[in-house]
Parts: sequence; C-alpha cells; structure tokens
Amino acid sequence: MTARLFQLVILLILLPLLQSRPHASQSTNIYLPLQITTLSVADFGATGDGLHYDTRAIQSTIDACPTTSCRVSFPPGTYLTATIHLKSNVILDIQEGATLLGGTKIRDYPKEFDRWYVVLAENATDVGITGGGVVDGQGLKFVQRFNEVKNVMVSWNQTGACLGDECRPRLVGFIGCRNVRVWNIRLRDPAYWCLHIVRCHNTSIFDVSIFGDFNTPNNDGMDIEDSNNTVITRCHIDTGDDAICPKTYNTPLHNLTATNCWIRTKSSAIKFGSASSFDFKNLVFDNITIVDSHRGLALQIRDGGNVSNITFSNINITTRYYDPSWWGRAEPIYVTTCPRDSNAKEGSISDLLFINITATSENGVFLSGSKGGLLSNLRFINMNLTYRRWTKYTGGLVDYRPGCQGLVNHSAAGIIMEHLEGLEVENVSMRWSDNKKEQWDNPLDFRPSTVNNISFFNFHSGLYKE
Ligand SMILES: *[C@@H]1O[C@H](CO)[C@@H](O)[C@H](O)[C@H]1NC(C)=O
Ligand SMILES: *[C@@H]1O[C@H](CO)[C@@H](O)[C@H](O)[C@H]1NC(C)=O
Ligand SMILES: *[C@@H]1O[C@H](CO)[C@@H](O)[C@H](O)[C@H]1NC(C)=O
Ligand SMILES: *[C@@H]1O[C@H](CO)[C@@H](O)[C@H](O)[C@H]1NC(C)=O
Ligand SMILES: *[C@@H]1O[C@H](CO)[C@@H](O)[C@H](O)[C@H]1NC(C)=O
Ligand SMILES: *[C@@H]1O[C@H](CO)[C@@H](O)[C@H](O)[C@H]1NC(C)=O
Ligand SMILES: *[C@@H]1O[C@H](CO)[C@@H](O)[C@H](O)[C@H]1NC(C)=O
Ligand SMILES: *[C@@H]1O[C@H](CO)[C@@H](O)[C@H](O)[C@H]1NC(C)=O
Ligand SMILES: *[C@@H]1O[C@H](CO)[C@@H](O)[C@H](O)[C@H]1NC(C)=O
Ligand SMILES: *[C@@H]1O[C@H](CO)[C@@H](O)[C@H](O)[C@H]1NC(C)=O
Ligand SMILES: *[C@@H]1O[C@H](CO)[C@@H](O)[C@H](O)[C@H]1NC(C)=O
Ligand SMILES: *[C@@H]1O[C@H](CO)[C@@H](O)[C@H](O)[C@H]1NC(C)=O
Repeated sequence: MTARLFQLVILLILLPLLQSRPHASQSTNIYLPLQITTLSVADFGATGDGLHYDTRAIQSTIDACPTTSCRVSFPPGTYLTATIHLKSNVILDIQEGATLLGGTKIRDYPKEFDRWYVVLAENATDVGITGGGVVDGQGLKFVQRFNEVKNVMVSWNQTGACLGDECRPRLVGFIGCRNVRVWNIRLRDPAYWCLHIVRCHNTSIFDVSIFGDFNTPNNDGMDIEDSNNTVITRCHIDTGDDAICPKTYNTPLHNLTATNCWIRTKSSAIKFGSASSFDFKNLVFDNITIVDSHRGLALQIRDGGNVSNITFSNINITTRYYDPSWWGRAEPIYVTTCPRDSNAKEGSISDLLFINITATSENGVFLSGSKGGLLSNLRFINMNLTYRRWTKYTGGLVDYRPGCQGLVNHSAAGIIMEHLEGLEVENVSMRWSDNKKEQWDNPLDFRPSTVNNISFFNFHSGLYKE
C-alpha cells in the first residue's frame, strides 16, 4: 500500500468518528453543568468543638440535601458524632483541618452489629467521602490493656448484638451501594475494621491514607467484601491488621484492581479471605511497596470459594517475623487453600501470575493446596528473593491458620510446595545470607507425590555476603 493510499484509508476510518464528535459533545452539554448543592454542617448547628455531639446537626444537613448532587461540608474543627447515615448523591466533604470523631459509647451506634460504623451508607448510589480531612475512630479508647505484642480490646458483647471478642465499631462502611468514591481523605485509628465495602458495584478509592495502631488486632485497612469493579490507587496504609483484604461471604468478588500503594502491617499486606465462600476472579495488584509486614501477598482460602486469574506485578516486599499470636510467618508470598474445619469445602486456586517481584524476607514462600483444592497454573517471573534473618523470633513453623492444621513444625525453605499442579519459574533468583547462625534448609521443598509439572528456566540460587 502506498503511503498516500494508507493515509486515505485511515481518513476514511476516522471520518465517521470525527463527524460524530460534535454530536457527542452536544449530547453531553444537555446534562451539563451538573447542579451541585453545598451545605455546611456549621449552618445546621454543628459546634465542631470535639466535646458536644454534633450527630443531629450533621444528620440534618445530610437529610436536607436535595436528591441532586450534594456536598455536605465540614469546616475546620472536630466533630464528635454517633453513627451518621449517608444517602444517594451525597458526598461528605471533610475539609483539611476538620476531623470527624467517632463516639466511643455503645449507645452511639445502631442496635444491629452490622451497622456499627461511624459513617455508613446503605443502598445508596453516587455517594462518597473526600475533602482532605480526617475520620478518626478513637480506637485507642477501646484498648482494655496496652501490650506491645498485641493490645487487649474491649468487646461490646453484653447486649448479644455481637458475640465473642471482636465486637467493636468499624469506621466507614458502604453496604449495597453503586458508584462509591472515597478520595483524598485520611482514615485514622479505627476501633475495628477501617474502610468496609460490602456488596458494592463500581467503587473507586484513591489518595486515601489509613493509620491504625500497630498493636491493635482487627484494625484492617480496607475490607472489600462481595463487591465488583473496585479500583484502589495511591493508597498509604500503616496499620496492625490486614491492609487490603478481599473477602467473600455471600456472592463472588470480581474485578478488583489495586495500584501504586504503600503498605506496612503486622499481618498481611494483601490478603484474600479468610472468609472465602464464593469465587474471587480477575484481580490485579500492581506497583505496590510492602515494608516490615508479617506477610506480603497472601491467599488464605478456607471456605470453598475458587480463586482465578490474579496478577501481582511490580511489587517490592520486606517481611519479618512478629509474635506468632499474629497470623503470618514472614512469608513474602503465601498461597494456601484448605478446608477451615471438617464442615468446610475446599476451594481451588488457579492462574496466578507473579511478575517483577523483589522480596527480602525472614522466611520463604509457602504454596499449599489441599487434596480436594489444588493450586494450579502458577507463574513466577522476574523475581529476586533475598533470604536473611534480622529479628530474634524463632522460625521453623508453617502457619496454616485459621483452622486446617494450625501451626506445624517444619524446616525453613526458599519455596515450600504441597498439592500443586503446574508452576513455571522463570528468571528467578534466590540469594541467601551467608551468616552461619541463620537456619535455612533447602531452597525448594516438595514431595513429588503431591507436586506435579514444575519447570525452571533461568533459576538461580546462591549465597551472598552480608
Ligand atoms: C438495603 O437493601 C437490602 C436488600 O434489599 C435490605 O435488606 C435492607 O433493609 C436495605 N437497607 C436500608 C437501610 O434500606
Ligand atoms: C465477651 O467478650 C469478652 C472479652 O473479649 C470475652 O471474654 C467473652 O467470652 C465474650 N462473651 C461473649 C458472650 O461472647
Ligand atoms: C463508576 O463510578 C464513578 C464514580 O462514582 C463514575 O464516575 C462512573 O461513571 C461509574 N461507572 C459506571 C460504569 O457506572
Ligand atoms: C458481582 O458479580 C457476580 C458475578 O457476576 C455476581 O454474582 C454478584 O451478584 C455481583 N455482585 C454485586 C454486588 O453486584
Ligand atoms: C468485570 O470486568 C469486565 C471487563 O471490564 C466486564 O466485562 C465484566 O462485566 C465485569 N464483571 C462484573 C461482575 O461486573
Ligand atoms: C508507583 O507508585 C508510586 C506511589 O507509591 C508512584 O509514585 C509511582 O509513580 C508509581 N509508578 C508507576 C510506574 O506508576
Ligand atoms: C469451585 O469449583 C468447584 C469445581 O469446579 C465447584 O464444584 C464449586 O462449586 C466451586 N465453588 C463455588 C463456591 O462456586
Ligand atoms: C483476567 O483479569 C484481567 C484483569 O481484570 C482481565 O483483563 C482479563 O480479561 C482476565 N482474563 C480472563 C481470561 O478472564
Ligand atoms: C522496587 O525497588 C526498585 C529498586 O530499588 C525500584 O526501582 C522500584 O521503583 C521499586 N518499586 C516499588 C513498587 O516499590
Ligand atoms: C533482579 O536482580 C537483577 C540483578 O541485580 C536485576 O537485573 C533485575 O532487574 C532484578 N529484578 C527484579 C524484578 O527486581
Ligand atoms: C516487568 O519489568 C520489566 C522491566 O522493568 C518491564 O519491561 C515489564 O513491563 C514489567 N512487566 C509488567 C507486567 O509490569
Ligand atoms: C515443635 O517442636 C518443638 C520441639 O522441637 C515442640 O516443643 C513444639 O511443641 C512443636 N510445636 C508444634 C506446633 O508442633
């Protein structure tokens, strides 16, 4: 084809597009400009003094919003509040210098445990939080006994609304919502889980930072549950428990993407499960930095849900041991599926790609399927794994918790494999600290009876000088 003819063909292809442009912008113009109402909580009597409850003022502002797009703004100040309920088309605009402070009394929260949040949106569309300010759960006020290893927390189980030792309010919840946006906001010190997305469709979370106390159990960063089409980007999470945690209780979870994040946690940075009754499909984790965590990339499948088509790319990880009362054993990568208990089903895990991963860790990679729940088609491409010990915690245990075989004595290896069908290892280098005091066993640890079809291409293992 001559160059001119080629240009002509391109022009002919583009012509309808070019022609349709003015038409497209015309049709957008019909809906623009959007009518946005802004209401300030100050005009509805909020004191912002951090001492008096501003619940009624805040809720009145939200309720006064018209059914078109509405911003509820919080000028600088500290707004103590019981649960507030968002509704469709409302964006909370918590400005820089403003803090929404969650109440610490059981009467500050609704009767039902599953509605215990400082901010809750239920069955709403086009709803969100922004503004550059802070939502603070006052989690430290829920500590019964401070402990460097793990704090002992109060549990509001007296009313029977919730049983056990995890009865505390979460910070922000979106339940059954569509088009959720959480951006440019700091979420701080939750008493329990921090940002909870449940049965939502189309959620975007960006420029969000989460700070939780490092010794507080269950203060997860983001729990994404039974939800589809979730995008998380530019997050900063520094907290005691799991940082980004997809879960399935009642329906599958599809299409979650998390990129450009920084994470530190005393538990898992990325964790699938352990609630895993339904499938997880098409998830991507890219450009993530994980520091000083108890586990890096973790799949803890325990309830029969199947996991497939997951990519982890461009991720730097350092993992170290913490006290074993926290799940995790310093594994940079932990892929497990086993039945939680004798009533549970076994889910499979297939088509996982790990590419461009660098890890420095105190323990190896653990890949463990189970008899009726195989791991299949895993790929490790371009990985540098450095093994080195720098804390005083003893190693030598494999961690199947929750349930399954619990903690089991086992030698420490570069990669442990069980019940696996298909692993491709390509351009992977393992480096071992030459420190004689460090106890390491084999680079690879598996029994051929449960492991099939593993292949190595450009695999290297060797010592390095510390
Ligand atoms: C939200 O929708 C669910 C399912 O339709 C319903 O059970 C629940 O009561 C609704 N909640 C509210 C606050 O409307
Ligand atoms: C309530 O929580 C306390 C403290 O965590 C725990 O010891 C107790 O067993 C729980 N009681 C019930 C009924 O769940
Ligand atoms: C998803 O939500 C965002 C923000 O809430 C919105 O801009 C976008 O149009 C939504 N996408 C779909 C497919 O509904
Ligand atoms: C998510 O998608 C799955 C698979 O299509 C569907 O079963 C589930 O109901 C969806 N969940 C939501 C909250 O839309
Ligand atoms: C997941 O994303 C794909 C591709 O964008 C889309 O076709 C599919 O409908 C999405 N799944 C759900 C459950 O929304
Ligand atoms: C990766 O994420 C960091 C933020 O953690 C960002 O600064 C950087 O631009 C991202 N890199 C790419 C290639 O997107
Ligand atoms: C997981 O896959 C198995 C085998 O295909 C299937 O029997 C089981 O129902 C799936 N689990 C779920 C929760 O869909
Ligand atoms: C796997 O997931 C990615 C990212 O969501 C998606 O683009 C791709 O189409 C999926 N592949 C299959 C085979 O479903
Ligand atoms: C990982 O480390 C390399 C080398 O220090 C650096 O170039 C890269 O940007 C880092 N990527 C992430 C996601 O932290
Ligand atoms: C691994 O290390 C080699 C040699 O230092 C380097 O060329 C390569 O880019 C590294 N790969 C990753 C994924 O960090
Ligand atoms: C892996 O890293 C290489 C070299 O930095 C880059 O060219 C490639 O695009 C990366 N792959 C993915 C899937 O990000
Ligand atoms: C591991 O072995 C040690 C002795 O070597 C023993 O004391 C300990 O109970 C064992 N732990 C488990 C979980 O089996």
